[in-house]
Amino acid sequence: MVQPAAEGPPRLLNPSLFLAYSAYYIFPTIYDLIVSFNFKPFFSIDEFKDAWFARFWVFFGPKSRESAAPKVMPLLQNSARGVCLDIGPGTGQWLYLFARANNKDITKIYGVEPNRGMHAELRQNAVAAGLGDIYEIVGCGAEELDTKGGIQKGSIDTIITVQCLCSVPTPEKIIKNLYPMLKPGGRWLVYEHIKTKHQGEFVGYWQSKYCCI
Ligand SMILES: C[S@@+](CC[C@H](N)C(=O)[O-])C[C@H]1O[C@@H](n2cnc3c(N)ncnc32)[C@H](O)[C@@H]1O
Repeated sequence: MVQPAAEGPPRLLNPSLFLAYSAYYIFPTIYDLIVSFNFKPFFSIDEFKDAWFARFWVFFGPKSRESAAPKVMPLLQNSARGVCLDIGPGTGQWLYLFARANNKDITKIYGVEPNRGMHAELRQNAVAAGLGDIYEIVGCGAEELDTKGGIQKGSIDTIITVQCLCSVPTPEKIIKNLYPMLKPGGRWLVYEHIKTKHQGEFVGYWQSKYCCI
């Protein structure tokens, strides 16, 4: 069982704990790939990393949802409308918030998820939320939307990015590429989580110097 994140000075250990958990998940990843006779990721670092992150996120995603929910729920509930771009949905653990009953104005959702290891669970969660007929998985990165993804500029009513830009190596570039996808008057619902509240300490200094936040 995962312990709650430490507070006070021991919180400096939290990033190490996170890294330890993610490192540990290399073993279940290898096991799952072998027992499912899926050997291809052993020959591609990118494919292996995707399989590893997907396996880790099945475990860690719900923990992150617990701590983010108080802010993400009011942000997403009843806010999306029209044609939506759900960027980096992962396993789709927030899709229940788009359930038809509460979001009658959503007509289509493109789930833009480059990690194919997450697609099966993403599809299951879309169906569970009653979105099976309007949720389409687009298997490319946000930076490839108008090329590989086939999404036209100016065609989107709502963009959703939840805990996603932290995973992208070039967030500034992606933000610039995403804005033109919106129709005039379109909305972008954003939740990111990485700016430390402990400004004036080492982590705050590191983030302001080296991270795009
Ligand atoms: C930390 S996970 C969060 C997943 C989900 N938003 C959630 O809150 O559970 C970040 C997600 O962003 C995706 N991602 C990484 N690079 C991306 C890119 N260039 N375009 C779109 N999604 C990307 C990852 O595959 C992953 O699913």
